[in-house]
Amino acid sequence: MIETISVLSGHGKIGRSESFGRIDLHMGQVVSIVGPTGSGKTTLINDIELFANGDTPSGRRVLINDEPPPADFRYNPARNPIALITQHTTFLSDLPVREFLLTHSRVRNGKREAPELVAQAIEFANQLTGEPIDLDNRMTELSGGQTRALLIADATVICSTPVVLLDEVENAGIHRTRAVQLLRQHRKIFIFVTHDPRIALLSDFRLVMQQGCVTQVLQTSDEEQEVSIQVNRLDDTLSALRERLRQGQRLTARFLEAVA
Ligand SMILES: Nc1ncnc2c1ncn2[C@@H]1O[C@H](COP(=O)(O)OP(=O)(O)OP(=O)(O)O)[C@@H](O)[C@H]1O
Ligand SMILES: [Mg+2]
Repeated sequence: MIETISVLSGHGKIGRSESFGRIDLHMGQVVSIVGPTGSGKTTLINDIELFANGDTPSGRRVLINDEPPPADFRYNPARNPIALITQHTTFLSDLPVREFLLTHSRVRNGKREAPELVAQAIEFANQLTGEPIDLDNRMTELSGGQTRALLIADATVICSTPVVLLDEVENAGIHRTRAVQLLRQHRKIFIFVTHDPRIALLSDFRLVMQQGCVTQVLQTSDEEQEVSIQVNRLDDTLSALRERLRQGQRLTARFLEAVA
């Protein structure tokens, strides 16, 4: 059972050492990684996914429950406790969604197919996308948003990996607040790379990155929790405008007034 993942500090791009010493992520926590383009966010989640042991460009090390992870976490896909959902996922597989999920359920369930998990996963995914996925769709036919929703559902429900890493979920057209609420019902460690104030404020804490280094660890403050109500309102307004654009309509002053 994974209880904690710890990241031990390394160095940034120009060799500057990180000063945080050690960051512990506990089971059940939602953590965000924020920072400008090129600041090393993807590199940090890759370090976690690879169980870095001083052998990646950052020199960081990752411990599971205070110890270096067992080798089969790294080399046996059925035992790897980490699901990484990247921004650019393409499938080589042309399987229908049902077969893909069933096959996965077999790998994870000691050869037994688990159709009940497949049903649960598709329901989960369809709460995240505006555009429902059909079990008979082929994997290669899914849109970007559907693909990410399906992978999040697969990681959460079928593989039930205890750690899920998501690289920039906000551009994928999935319901973000819904996603964080649903994910919180599962006891896991979720790490989001994000530019989204809404997700950042829903997190327990966030890691701030600059030039390849983690430079701050910020707990979501009481004031931020209060501010998040307003942030959500602004975000809902923008979502309504986005949706109207998608529908091919004009953005009028009247509409803005109605949704603001
Ligand atoms: N600690 C580090 N040590 C050495 N190189 C690093 C480190 N962190 C990042 N880099 C390098 O810097 C470049 C940008 O890093 P990365 O892709 O992780 O940034 P990012 O924050 O994910 O950017 P974006 O927001 O554009 O996705 C990469 O080439 C990466 O290898
Ligand atoms: Mg990146």
